[in-house]
Amino acid sequence: MKAITYTGFGGPEVLRLAEVDEPHAGPGQVRLKVVAAGVNPLDHKIRSGWRPQLAPPFPVVPGLEAAGVVDEVGEGVTGVAVGDEVLGWTVTGAYAEHALAVDFGPKPADLGWDVAAALPVAVETSVRVLDALGVREGDTLLLHGAAGVAGAVGVQLAVARGATVIGTASPGNHDYLRSLGAIPVAYGNGLANRVRAVAPQGVDAVYDAAGAGDLETSIELRGGTGRIVTIADPRAAELGVTFSGPGAQFGPRLGEYALLAAEGRLTVRVARTFPLEDAAQAQEVSAGGHAAGKLVLRPWPSARPAEEAAGEQR
Ligand SMILES: NC(=O)c1ccc[n+]([C@@H]2O[C@H](COP(=O)([O-])OP(=O)(O)OC[C@H]3O[C@@H](n4cnc5c(N)ncnc54)[C@H](OP(=O)(O)O)[C@@H]3O)[C@@H](O)[C@H]2O)c1
Repeated sequence: MKAITYTGFGGPEVLRLAEVDEPHAGPGQVRLKVVAAGVNPLDHKIRSGWRPQLAPPFPVVPGLEAAGVVDEVGEGVTGVAVGDEVLGWTVTGAYAEHALAVDFGPKPADLGWDVAAALPVAVETSVRVLDALGVREGDTLLLHGAAGVAGAVGVQLAVARGATVIGTASPGNHDYLRSLGAIPVAYGNGLANRVRAVAPQGVDAVYDAAGAGDLETSIELRGGTGRIVTIADPRAAELGVTFSGPGAQFGPRLGEYALLAAEGRLTVRVARTFPLEDAAQAQEVSAGGHAAGKLVLRPWPSARPAEEAAGEQR
């Protein structure tokens, strides 16, 4: 099968389209024909050697999440059959024509493939962080990086809990944040004063989904490190702030959120789709930090028509 691989850390040029052996579903696993693979910032961070211990052995097939059609069911797996459409986490790398998965949920038929591939990481992360922060009705939540894929899901889930959400983003994303129910503020110098201006009552919790250096401001606004969680700032430990990394198995709950997305009650922007061979370009856009939505790879040329165009903004 075709897959993107790399055999050493480096820039996007280390990514190669290669012919590799197809994986087969072992006990507890299903195999997917990958229709859409989500590109995450962690993919380029791992590729660049940022935390070598996070990388699987070389050759690495990158990619954490995908949506696809089950084409093999391993021993002991129940409740799913060949032909089912699912979304979830891949254990063999999502930038490939086929991938194995153990943690997945059902994809509603009317949910677009690209949106489905965008949900697993963003939803699991935001549910985990909002739970860790104990975000509840009446809270005022400051969310850094609110227009990113993880942040935008976090905004919607926090608003659904009854929180007032102040989201940081560049001005071009402020209307988008308003459409999600957040109060937008620009990041950068003077952030604390802009937040105080829209939240004179103070902020009860902070979700940092940007990792762009706003922890000190967050601590200042909170009056300490309590109820602050970052998913992206490597300085968390030195500042005494909680870092939240990948969580426990989530597949059984993913279906609920996929249904919300199919009903238009949870939205994800898809910025751009790429054929598999353009993975390096997709990772470069991701590394730029302002993709304005999810970047998605489509491994199978035949699966790229606009068959689900109506579903793509859901
Ligand atoms: N620990 C975990 O479990 C976990 C899970 C998922 C993601 N992550 C990490 O979380 C981060 C976000 O992921 P993502 O998929 O949401 O990325 P993304 O879609 O690329 O979004 C990044 C966002 O950061 C915003 N941004 C850039 N500079 C900023 C600044 N100085 N202040 C505030 N916001 C800024 C951008 O907003 P503008 O375009 O408006 O500038 C953009 O919307 C990445 O570092 C990723 O690795 C961690």
